[in-house]
Amino acid sequence: MPMRLESLAVHAGAEADAATGAVATPLHLSTTFKHGPAGERVAGFEYVREGNPNQERLETALAALEGGAGALVFASGMAAITSLLECLPAGAHFIYPQDCYTGLRVLATEFLPQRGVSATAVDTADLSAVRAAIAPHTRCLWLETPSNPQLRICDIAALADMAHAHGTLVACDNTFATPLLQQPLALGADVVMHSTTKYFGGHSDALGGALIFARRDEPFVAVAHRRHITGGVLSPFNAWLTLRGLRSLPARMAWHCRNARAVAEFLAAHPRVQAVHWPGLPSHPNHAVAARQMRDFGGMLSMLIHGGRDAALSVAGKVKMFTNATSLGGCESLIEHRASVEGENPVSPQNLLRLSIGLEHADDLVADLAQALT
Ligand SMILES: Cc1ncc(COP(=O)(O)O)c(C=O)c1O
Repeated sequence: MPMRLESLAVHAGAEADAATGAVATPLHLSTTFKHGPAGERVAGFEYVREGNPNQERLETALAALEGGAGALVFASGMAAITSLLECLPAGAHFIYPQDCYTGLRVLATEFLPQRGVSATAVDTADLSAVRAAIAPHTRCLWLETPSNPQLRICDIAALADMAHAHGTLVACDNTFATPLLQQPLALGADVVMHSTTKYFGGHSDALGGALIFARRDEPFVAVAHRRHITGGVLSPFNAWLTLRGLRSLPARMAWHCRNARAVAEFLAAHPRVQAVHWPGLPSHPNHAVAARQMRDFGGMLSMLIHGGRDAALSVAGKVKMFTNATSLGGCESLIEHRASVEGENPVSPQNLLRLSIGLEHADDLVADLAQALT
């Protein structure tokens, strides 16, 4: 029976346990699985680094939600990105967004060049800039939309068309949007990446990452092999926690989006706020693209505070309900001065604060920000 995303989130990979009838997914901590004398598999599994029932259920659910042919789960979002990028051969060229998660930037500027892979940062909202950056040896175009932390939006369908005309693989980090709001594979991307640590887990208690592939062709096979051998696989317990979180993802995302709208509209009208980056605001430079490719605009936003770094730190220091902490996508609202946590060479504006809008009452969140902005 065809299912909508809300139903898939509840039912994909959720069959009752064949052995016991348990409706809630059992947790299988076993690292090894009985096989025959010549290695014949009894129930499909052999060793946990290659696969286990909890990983398999989560992969089934993720592939269903993103409309992919297969998914692979990893110990972290960074392990997922790394496994894909490690498949790029020496001499290949990689394009990634100017505004992106810090870890990707470090991989691109530090780790890829060590292996002879060159990388170019481009404003992916600017189609002509991407076109100019694509070279004959460009093997992968990385997209992150909305991006972290400036909530930039790029046109996935247009960029996928452009990249495919050059034989370039398109990967899209869909962590901020989740498949509830945006399905990059349907828009033409080849691979979707998630830090499942964020909205999928949803409770700030399970590190994890995933890649979902449009096809089970060469990149899927290469990454599955690499994960098996290099070992960056998701633990069974974190797979279990993430799948448990995923069941309520549609309900949580609706509330995150609703709260974020209330906060964004409040901040946009506040005299101490110089700019609000949230793609749902008509003032967002790529609002039209976001409205076309997203169902709603997500629970992440960032803002620039008039008065520079000290003014931003003063706001972050005054919040009571928001917690100063990194990460995002949990039930609790978080605030972070990104430049302070980006290492030696921060790239975020010194007056930028990033907000992960949680599941509290919107009025309480607005009241907290109102008192912090006085
Ligand atoms: C957009 C985005 N991608 C990737 C990552 C990396 O994921 P993880 O922390 O699970 O390794 C993060 C982490 O904050 C992120 O925000």
